[in-house]
Amino acid sequence: MDETYPVRLNINGVAHQFEVPAWVTLLDLLRERAGLTGTKKGCDHGQCGACTVLAGDTRINSCLTLAVMQNGRDITTVEGLAEGDVLHPLQQAFIEHDAFQCGYCTPGQLCSAVGLMNEGQASTAAEVRELMSGNICRCGAYPGIVAAVTGVMGLAQRRDDIERPYTPGTVPA
Ligand code: FES
Ligand code: FES
Repeated sequence: MDETYPVRLNINGVAHQFEVPAWVTLLDLLRERAGLTGTKKGCDHGQCGACTVLAGDTRINSCLTLAVMQNGRDITTVEGLAEGDVLHPLQQAFIEHDAFQCGYCTPGQLCSAVGLMNEGQASTAAEVRELMSGNICRCGAYPGIVAAVTGVMGLAQRRDDIERPYTPGTVPA
């Protein structure tokens, strides 16, 4: 039997206490112990961003961190972005810009975009693309995702289109 360790987390504003083996990732704790299945497991190797959550204000890949390493922290998952029935502005913008197809990457895209905004490093659509490049969308919904994020951030819409024209039916890198 694996030795277990206490882990206290404040998840989406609610205090939780768990007893987990040291090898349990934050992603597995969220999905399998806390029942918060909004956070998705894509690659489980830090390559796709589907598991992105916020630790404090910082976006992290929850598959790459052990739950015990986050002991005592505030964790926000996609379930914690809305205020009751009122969607987070990014969630609303994703709907308005048709920024998803299957939706598997969407929770990670949303949490990553919140983290991006907290970082304050992106001032153009090109920088949004670059700084969101760790979040892969298998459906190629990138034009809508970038439009949604830049819209919420109040950045000039598609200012970099002159440099990187988007042709419908193609997937920008
Ligand atoms: S599941 Fe964590 S990066 Fe892919
Ligand atoms: S909407 Fe399907 S993977 Fe992004």
